[in-house]
Amino acid sequence: MKTILDTDPGVDDAMTFYYAHASAGTDLIAMTTIFGNVTVEDATQNALWLAESVQTEIPVYQGSKTPLEIIPNTPSAHVHGEHGFGDLNDRTITTKAEAESAAEFLVSEAARQPGELTVCAIGPLTNIALALDIDPKFIANLRQLVIMGGSLEAGGNITPYAEANFWNDPHAANKVLTSPGGGTVIIVGLDVTTRISFFQSDYDEMAAQSPKAGGFLKDIGEFYMRFYETVTGKYQAYLHDPAALIACEAPELFTMQDVMLKVITEGENVGEMVPHLFSERVCKVCIDVDIPAVLNRYKTTMARLP
Ligand code: BDR
Ligand code: CA
Repeated sequence: MKTILDTDPGVDDAMTFYYAHASAGTDLIAMTTIFGNVTVEDATQNALWLAESVQTEIPVYQGSKTPLEIIPNTPSAHVHGEHGFGDLNDRTITTKAEAESAAEFLVSEAARQPGELTVCAIGPLTNIALALDIDPKFIANLRQLVIMGGSLEAGGNITPYAEANFWNDPHAANKVLTSPGGGTVIIVGLDVTTRISFFQSDYDEMAAQSPKAGGFLKDIGEFYMRFYETVTGKYQAYLHDPAALIACEAPELFTMQDVMLKVITEGENVGEMVPHLFSERVCKVCIDVDIPAVLNRYKTTMARLP
């Protein structure tokens, strides 16, 4: 499945990248970057570093520096580290991002092969909203747009109402979720991702099986688990972004419900995803997940890496 990751790496974004690289079900053709966990400049540098680390040519297209309307929130250094990879700040790279912007690339790549491309958006949705501005048929031209973001019943993770990716650009999230024009949009939100925990023993196992990628993820995963310990009381992390890519490949592991939605853009509830009967789009929202199957798929796929 030809796939583009729209990403703000980020610890769980890096976990998703290596899964994409390892998986026979995903052909990762490019990454587009977005601010969120880090600045867009750091996101691009991290994406290039990840691509170089697997010695495979995966072009990187830099996306938006800022949200559509709000003043940018501060990057989540306390969750992912100052530059996105925990305490590891040395990300020397030799390659450069492509000249075309993320939104332009997304639009032209989708139009070139209608119905073929999966876009897995695991950061704020600004690039996707900008792609819709360029071409209202952008989502219709995809095989599917799978989004890690929002929540229906689980509440927020950055405010009581808002999930971080939607909070970082609520106008973009609202634009995408209410956009006319057809195509398939799948939402993998906190309703399912906060049920999929990864523990120290899981990172240890990955590092033992795949010292290079697994060892790196174990190092940066420690920072990420320390953050989750402060909010959940347990030393563990959630597989938010990997769950979205697994939903691209194996939707049968998720229970989905058709819902018309919007995202609140003002007031105390800003960033909250809510049902909205007057939306022009019906999204498929993941409301349940086969947790052991997702964890098993993640770990057995990662074990293929050196
Ligand atoms: C989302 O926010 C970021 O911290 C993660 O990378 C994930 O995309 C979870 O709310
Ligand atoms: Ca992310």
